[in-house]
Amino acid sequence: MSLSQPHGGELIHRIQLDYSVDGMAKEIELDNFALSDLELIANGAFSPLTGFMGEADYAGVVEKMRLASGHIWSIPITLPVTEEKAAELTVGEQVKLVFAGEVYGVIEVQEIYQPDKYVEAENVYRTTDLAHPGVKKLLERPNVYVGGPITLVKQPEKNNFKEFYLNPTETRAEFVKRGWKTVVGFQTRNPVHRAHEYIQKSALEIVDGLFLNPLVGETKSDDIPADVRMESYQVLLKNYYPLDRVFLAVFPAAMRYAGPREAIFHAMVRKNYGCTHFIVGRDHAGVGDYYGTYDAQLIFNHFTAEELGIMPLFFEHSFYCKKCGNMASTKTCPHDKEDHLILSGTKVRAMLSNGELPPPEFSRPEVVEVLIRGMKVPSIQS
Ligand code: ADX
Repeated sequence: MSLSQPHGGELIHRIQLDYSVDGMAKEIELDNFALSDLELIANGAFSPLTGFMGEADYAGVVEKMRLASGHIWSIPITLPVTEEKAAELTVGEQVKLVFAGEVYGVIEVQEIYQPDKYVEAENVYRTTDLAHPGVKKLLERPNVYVGGPITLVKQPEKNNFKEFYLNPTETRAEFVKRGWKTVVGFQTRNPVHRAHEYIQKSALEIVDGLFLNPLVGETKSDDIPADVRMESYQVLLKNYYPLDRVFLAVFPAAMRYAGPREAIFHAMVRKNYGCTHFIVGRDHAGVGDYYGTYDAQLIFNHFTAEELGIMPLFFEHSFYCKKCGNMASTKTCPHDKEDHLILSGTKVRAMLSNGELPPPEFSRPEVVEVLIRGMKVPSIQS
């Protein structure tokens, strides 16, 4: 076996830091979401995308989870602008992509189109409920989409944990350097608790390496901030993981909370980073009760193993079982719910902000210590 081929065959690279924007008068203001999408298109994490989606790709993704080329893609990657801004733009021109007064990219405007966001919400998020954070975000953003290829002309600033930002070419080189032929990717937007550790290490039993790839882009405000989580991952790895078997790097994408659809997207992106396997546990990328516990696993049945090009590893709900005296899952433990230590994210956050310690069977004490400290110090949410 060797590392996975990038999605679509080759890694896209659209970074050109000496690209001249002289003479481009028009600009589009990016939000955090679009800035992170711009970076991830340019560095190849979103291969085979070369830009923000035009209408054919967008419709294919919304309706069928496929790009116009037929490749699997489950989440629209779009550049929304206001109607006033759209009226200023002309198809064929190059426009600066600006964030907080700085030019980060250029788009060649190929299409300007009006999406039906309710259809997008219904198909991608399986709901149009505004209480869903992904739907809320979708509907809050402007109503016209601009499609076309992009070039990244300036790297977004990295204030924290700079050394953990690697593009797919770099993660692939790192895996090769370590002699890994099989690598399992792990997506997370949370601290790594014992259940996460259990499924990561179970997966690691059958592959060469674990790629711990926490999402550090925009998340909802009650998720634990990325800088606190990063500290907790490092302390955990140092104390409990064989360092020659695990590699930590960040995934600077925004969280969509699209559950099943996002699981497919997360898997395709990890394939680009070089992973051969990808962990999908219970309610992957879910929020509230919008998705069934295993919907994010079932969605993989829509596709063949060959077109996925990365093997999903499915895990059932895991926990510490008092009767078994170890970590287990609904698949491996015969005991009743009362014997299982299960704490909701909300409950854990409440405990941490009161300075209360979740039990060591739930979370490693070293991790809890970092989280409690982090929750006390107001932290900047990226
Ligand atoms: S996610 O939104 O990034 O998916 P989270 O960080 O909670 O959320 O989960 C990371 C991965 O671990 C996902 O694949 C999720 O399904 C899985 N997972 C989280 N908790 C458990 C658990 N108790 N049992 C099994 N899988 C879990």
